[in-house]
Amino acid sequence: MRVQVAIIGSGPAGLLLGQLLHLAGIDAVILEQRSQEYVLGRIRAGVLEQCMVEMMERAGVAQRLHAEGLVHHGFEILFGGERHRMDLHGLTGKDVTVYGQTEVTLDLMQARASAGGKSVYEADNVSVHDFDGTKPRVRYRKDGREHEVECDFIAGCDGFHGVCRPSVPASALTEHERVYPFGWLGVLADVPPVSEELIYVSHDRGFALCSMRSRTRSRYYIQCPLEDKVEAWSDAQFWEELARRLDDPARARLVTGPSLEKSIAPLRSYVAEPMRFGRLLLAGDAAHIVPPTGAKGLNLAASDVHYLSQALIEHYRSGASRELDAYSGRCLRRVWQAVRFSWWMTNLLHLFPENGSFGRKIQCAEFDYLTSSRAAGTSLAENYVGLPY
Ligand code: FAD
Ligand code: PHB
Repeated sequence: MRVQVAIIGSGPAGLLLGQLLHLAGIDAVILEQRSQEYVLGRIRAGVLEQCMVEMMERAGVAQRLHAEGLVHHGFEILFGGERHRMDLHGLTGKDVTVYGQTEVTLDLMQARASAGGKSVYEADNVSVHDFDGTKPRVRYRKDGREHEVECDFIAGCDGFHGVCRPSVPASALTEHERVYPFGWLGVLADVPPVSEELIYVSHDRGFALCSMRSRTRSRYYIQCPLEDKVEAWSDAQFWEELARRLDDPARARLVTGPSLEKSIAPLRSYVAEPMRFGRLLLAGDAAHIVPPTGAKGLNLAASDVHYLSQALIEHYRSGASRELDAYSGRCLRRVWQAVRFSWWMTNLLHLFPENGSFGRKIQCAEFDYLTSSRAAGTSLAENYVGLPY
């Protein structure tokens, strides 16, 4: 097979890139190791920045997002029993949209199918070659047969555990990492949310988050020890622990029910630099991970794809490489802003027993400042709704 761009990974980054390239008349194939059903079944992020919504519009896939997505003008923080509303709209003029990553993925997959885009699911042993020259290749195995794709560029959109980043010589890569000493236990359930808006909770027993997917489907998280096994948490234990971290009004409105999905995600900040090696360009989780506290992971994948699609479109229209050369630097500037913000929000809201009473007092002072200074509130709000790109 010969294509202009070989995209590795059919997560939001790969699918969004595929759609933008298709609209620009650039020929691409998407190679994904899992089945389509498996990719669609992964419950992950739920909050889209306005810029990402605009990208979905540009990609021509925002119809259902506008019909079913919930526009949120703010969210609440419940800190040590005190509630404070972050008025995102009032502070920034912008909003966020609650729309699950599963729905984003489904909309993009359907658009690709109706456009007749080439996709290979259940591609085994994907490997990337010769990206330091002018003729990169990708090899994979499908139904017991070996295949090779010749291309001009490889887009590494294969997530944190993908094959693209590890294929770069270690000497060409600088990694920066922080691993947090806890995880998030998440539950999805067909019960109405406790509140119209998200509630981020900082409690003596640990962090909690009340989120949602729709008016009838809730997504809740609680901070848990890294060693915990998801099988050891019954639904009843989860609901009981969540309720203990809420305040009376939220507890009174909490509706429990059987979990549709339950999983534990470790929290980590990670950046690999640069994001381009010759004709291999990394985008999304393949290059960086943020803890979910700031709701930035999916949105960063979208901003990378924005810069990457622009660079490839410029290359094929005019032969220029200015945007390709600028790609890594542009992405990383925004990535580090989101890494900082996610790290900061994680530090503000989680229980860090090893930081002792000093650490808790600093968190309290930070919350006090956030709630009493419009400048501090605006800073949080500006980052939460997403920095411009
Ligand atoms: P991915 O969605 O990971 O997609 C990568 C794709 O590449 C996958 O389909 C994978 O199967 C495929 N792939 C991997 N290796 C290969 C290979 N060798 N060959 C071919 N294909 C391959 N963000 C939030 O904002 N809020 C959250 O609550 C949240 N929860 C999360 C929970 C978990 C468990 C994880 C892992 C992430 C979570 N995130 C969350 C982050 C967010 O979901 C990601 O930032 C987002 O999925 C990034 O999209 P992506 O396309 O870059 O990567
Ligand atoms: C979610 O709904 O899954 C979600 C929302 C906000 C976050 C993280 C996850 O910060």
